[in-house]
Amino acid sequence: MTRFEVNGQTVEVAAEATVPLLDVLRNKLDLKGSRYGCGLEQCGSCMVLLDGEPVYACSRELGSVAGRRVTTIEGLSTHPLIAAFLDEQAGQCGYCLSGIVVSAAALLGRNPAPSRTEIVTALDRHLCRCGAHTRILRAVERAALALREGATA
Ligand code: FES
Ligand code: FES
Repeated sequence: MTRFEVNGQTVEVAAEATVPLLDVLRNKLDLKGSRYGCGLEQCGSCMVLLDGEPVYACSRELGSVAGRRVTTIEGLSTHPLIAAFLDEQAGQCGYCLSGIVVSAAALLGRNPAPSRTEIVTALDRHLCRCGAHTRILRAVERAALALREGATA
């Protein structure tokens, strides 16, 4: 049994310690927002926050998150990034977006006024096959502005 926190709730999961966290989130905890893309740390669609830092859930073993704090895209549902991505229509198929929003939330948590270059660097581990990159960058800038103007994450 592994006990950890997901989106503010303590959970206990009965599974092998070596099971990927992504499998646990999607199939045992019914949190389907984190996506399986490559399973090889190559696309970023599975990204979640672990104690506030972005990690690949596809390669992270369940046992390594015991006693720690996991945040998935579902835990960011009221973050200004969500409204900003909608306002900018920053996506097409949307498959990449939950991971990108997770990484962007981590960036804005430590840097409320990132430059375009800093945003690109923070999102460098993510693939968007639809080519929505420019709108995604604009959405992160829009969310940063909203946060600086008093919106709450
Ligand atoms: S599914 Fe984890 S990086 Fe692609
Ligand atoms: S919006 Fe389709 S992969 Fe990014």
